[in-house]
Amino acid sequence: MRTQVGIVGAGPAGLLLGHLLHLNGIDSVIVENRDREYVVDRVRAGVLEQGTVDLMRAIGVAAGLDRRGLRHDGVYVSFDGRRHRIDMAELTGGKAITVYGQNEVVRDLIDARIATTRPLYFEAQDVEVGAIDSAAPTIRFRHGDTAHEVRCDVIAGCDGFHGVCRPSIPAGVLAIYERTYPFGWLGILAEAAPSSEELVYTYHDRGFALFSMRSPAITRLYLQVPPDESIERWSDDRIWNEMLTRMTASDGWRPNVGRIVQKGVTPMRSFVAAPMRHGRLFLAGDAAHIVPPTGAKGLNLAASDVLVLARALKAFYESGSAEWLDRYSEICLRRVWKAQRFSWWMTTLLHKLPDETPFDHQRRIADLDYLTSSRAAMTSLAEQYVGLPSEVTFESAGLLH
Ligand code: FAD
Ligand code: DHB
Repeated sequence: MRTQVGIVGAGPAGLLLGHLLHLNGIDSVIVENRDREYVVDRVRAGVLEQGTVDLMRAIGVAAGLDRRGLRHDGVYVSFDGRRHRIDMAELTGGKAITVYGQNEVVRDLIDARIATTRPLYFEAQDVEVGAIDSAAPTIRFRHGDTAHEVRCDVIAGCDGFHGVCRPSIPAGVLAIYERTYPFGWLGILAEAAPSSEELVYTYHDRGFALFSMRSPAITRLYLQVPPDESIERWSDDRIWNEMLTRMTASDGWRPNVGRIVQKGVTPMRSFVAAPMRHGRLFLAGDAAHIVPPTGAKGLNLAASDVLVLARALKAFYESGSAEWLDRYSEICLRRVWKAQRFSWWMTTLLHKLPDETPFDHQRRIADLDYLTSSRAAMTSLAEQYVGLPSEVTFESAGLLH
């Protein structure tokens, strides 16, 4: 097979890139190693920045988002039993976040891809990328009983943190910046109507807790737990006890309790591989960087990376100029590092460290008090939470829709 852009991975990064390229008349083949149900059912992110929502609308994949997405103008930060609202829309000139499950985003993007009739392989086995230093890199894989080789001009490595693309770059080329945290998140989905219309980020003496939602009938909650915590140690009763202990506010607000329909533990890390490119292989999304989830940035960074890549590929095919491709990593990393910093800051502000001293505790309460009483501090959180601007926007990129 021959294509222009070979895309490894059908997560948000790969699927969004495929659609942007399709609209601009650029061929692609998407190769995913899991099956379609697995990719759609994986429960992950839920918060879309304003720019991610605008991008999905601009490329015509927002019908579900516009019907079922929940726009939030504000967010709560809770500590010492009191909730404080930060009015993001008022502080950012009308910007907001939208709660719409990543699995819905992926389902909508798969439907859009299939409607284009361009190739998308699920359940590809033994996926390998080769000749990435040459002008004709390849993706090899098996599908059923057939061995395939896709000859490409460029490969987009959109295969997540555990994919094959980043490890195929020769040792010593990438600088790795990494930090792990001494805690993880236990997340649940519960059949319970959300008891608040907006998210609540809570700092409690027993650790962080987060109230979120997926729909008017489903609540999504997270708890700080030790890293590598076994989910087997958490009965449903124990989960609800801990959630309610940490989240119940002095005015009586608390999450509604319901049947738990999904639960799991996620580790937390910050990770950046730089540059996000080697030869004709370009890394995008989690393949290049991971943020701890407290800032709700991972999916949104994946979207902003592929917008830059689509812009660069359009210039490459229209004029033969590699100038934008050469700037891809630099443009992405400027935004990635700011999101890294924000995610690290939200994480350290709201989580309890295992060796926390009374000094650390008082300093943290002062930090939270400042954040929730200073308009300048709230504006800073708000503009980062709704999403910082990128050098490349859909309009400035001149992309077609
Ligand atoms: P992925 O979604 O990981 O997609 C990569 C794809 O590549 C997958 O489909 C995978 O199966 C496939 N693949 C892997 N290896 C291969 C291979 N060898 N060959 C072919 N295909 C392969 N982000 C937010 O923005 N907001 C949030 O609120 C948020 N909350 C989160 C909560 C949790 C519990 C978790 C775990 C993550 C959260 N994130 C959040 C992060 C977000 O889910 C990721 O950043 C996002 O999925 C990145 O998209 P991606 O397309 O780069 O990677
Ligand atoms: C959700 C996940 C996050 O990581 C976050 O910061 C906010 C909300 C969610 O899954 O709804």
